[in-house]
Amino acid sequence: MGSKIAIIGTGYVGLTTGACLSHLGHTVVCADVVPGKVESLSRGEVPILEAGLDELVHDGIRDGLLSFVLGAENAVGDAEFVFLCLPTPQGADGAADLSFIKEAAQQIGPYLQPETVVINKSTVPVGSAGEVAKKLERSDVHVVSNPEFLREGTAVDDFLNPDRVVIGADDRGAADRVAALYDKLPGEVLITDPASAETIKYASNAFLATKISFVNAMAAVCEEVGADVQDVVKGMGLDQRIGNRFLVPGPGWGGSCFPKDSHALVRIAENSGYQFGLLRQVIAVNEEQFGRVANKISRFARGSLEGKTIAVWGLTFKAATDDLRDSPSLNIINRLLEVGATVRAYDPAVEDASDVRLAGIEICGDPYEAASGADVLAVLTEWPEFKDLSFEKVGEVIGTKAVVDARNLLDRDAIKGLGFAYDGIGRS
Ligand code: UDX
Repeated sequence: MGSKIAIIGTGYVGLTTGACLSHLGHTVVCADVVPGKVESLSRGEVPILEAGLDELVHDGIRDGLLSFVLGAENAVGDAEFVFLCLPTPQGADGAADLSFIKEAAQQIGPYLQPETVVINKSTVPVGSAGEVAKKLERSDVHVVSNPEFLREGTAVDDFLNPDRVVIGADDRGAADRVAALYDKLPGEVLITDPASAETIKYASNAFLATKISFVNAMAAVCEEVGADVQDVVKGMGLDQRIGNRFLVPGPGWGGSCFPKDSHALVRIAENSGYQFGLLRQVIAVNEEQFGRVANKISRFARGSLEGKTIAVWGLTFKAATDDLRDSPSLNIINRLLEVGATVRAYDPAVEDASDVRLAGIEICGDPYEAASGADVLAVLTEWPEFKDLSFEKVGEVIGTKAVVDARNLLDRDAIKGLGFAYDGIGRS
């Protein structure tokens, strides 16, 4: 017999968590505050691009295990577990803004059954379990931290095949009850105190961001010394202590987690008296990387970008998602627009040109159309289908045969063979 679960918030994390828990046989009610979203989700319409999610939502609804309601208080009345999956945006001082979480806690407090376990799934500052407990004003319920480690695009697979499940709780019984929700899944369950669980999430994301900034900095060194970063990473990665995962050089890291969580951890450390210079530098190297890619494009446009047309392939922060939040591609494009370039962009997951984040960019429905007449083509997101496009055809339509491949995605030798100038990251 499954458990009764409420999910507050149907964003990437909440919807994936709800759909996957219903797939594991639990009865899940998901709440959101947007009426239109609740209606369309109730019809099985998933508003985000996430592999396998449509199917799980559809199956959950069909089997009567997954439903959607308006308002958190309408989801929690029967629940044994309540997952808080709400946004924790970056506040003005870099710290995570907890107001959505606190508001929801205050709202649901009066409706909870005794012994309910309220679970912080969102990435929250260390000490947030205590903050939520205060807002609930219920001494007969438990608050537990159970951070998510879901990558967008592969979130369903990450949920169902976790490397680990981390549960931070003061009450061992509550922790064991949360652990039981996942007992059909592989991966080690690690039970800690709440502060350690909250810290594990920040430490993991900061470490992954560090790996990427490290490899991007090494790519800059490779460019100076004439080495090829792809071979360097391969050679490093064969050392099993290092490994080759998450060492792919690119235009810098982005998305909904790394930028906000790395800033938040700097702030958390500083507030408690530790100057996290290493992490500050990791963030600085990332900012530098956006500028380095913009400079590569401008060099191919012979210095000045004023009046030049730049074709961009890829707008999302990485492939396999439609998410534009903190996308390196958009950061780089804005640098080009600021100095007078025209940007024509194509992305397989972006159709709605009315999104405010795309202001000033000409969105094209086809990659060749974007390249047409351009002074430089820049590949900024690693969509695999870009590898299969015809550079003979690009050569026929582009104004100047010049490509900046910020994901080292393309067949460099073939493209050079067609007479293109080519620049990658850490290899030219
Ligand atoms: C991340 C974490 O991986 C996940 O565990 C966490 O819970 C949420 O944040 P996500 O933001 O979906 O997931 O994306 P991820 O795949 O981690 O990539 C983040 C950024 O780093 C992207 O911009 C990506 O392009 C970049 N990246 C990733 C690289 O540049 N090189 C790499 O080797 C890996």
